[in-house]
Amino acid sequence: MIAPPVPQRKVLTDDMVARIEALAPRYPDRRALTLPALHIVNAELRHVPLEAVVEIAAVLGLAPAEVQDTLTFYQFFHQDKPHGKVRVFVCRSISCALRGGDELLTGVCGKFGIEPYGTTVDGELTIEPAECLGACDFAPCMLANDDLLRNMTPETAAAELVKPRARAT
Ligand code: FES
Repeated sequence: MIAPPVPQRKVLTDDMVARIEALAPRYPDRRALTLPALHIVNAELRHVPLEAVVEIAAVLGLAPAEVQDTLTFYQFFHQDKPHGKVRVFVCRSISCALRGGDELLTGVCGKFGIEPYGTTVDGELTIEPAECLGACDFAPCMLANDDLLRNMTPETAAAELVKPRARAT
């Protein structure tokens, strides 16, 4: 039997594929690489377009629907367009909510002229609500890429979010 042709990759770079393959020895099978592969692509592209799903599936030897199932199960991945260079998660769980988490979310979004889940026109910031960030002692808090910002108000948050910030890892 003749094997089907391997589709030409257009979205995944050789470096992304090499990083996915480098993780393979840590996992029991290639299906288990799906989530790490999605994270590798998302970290580079700030979203995982459908074309990338098809290419990840080809790399892992899975059906595209299997990769898409994983992607949509987690609400973490954007698919239609990239999130901002800095992705901000504002905690809305109980400890933060009791200490002004909702006001923090709407207040900081308002300061940047966007709604929750929105991205600023310059593509710098996306602000989203999130569940407990595991830092309840510092409520209300938020995550900006990999930086935990503690005891925030809309004013202190807005001041923090205009500072340069490393990419998410
Ligand atoms: S409730 Fe906000 S960090 Fe836990």
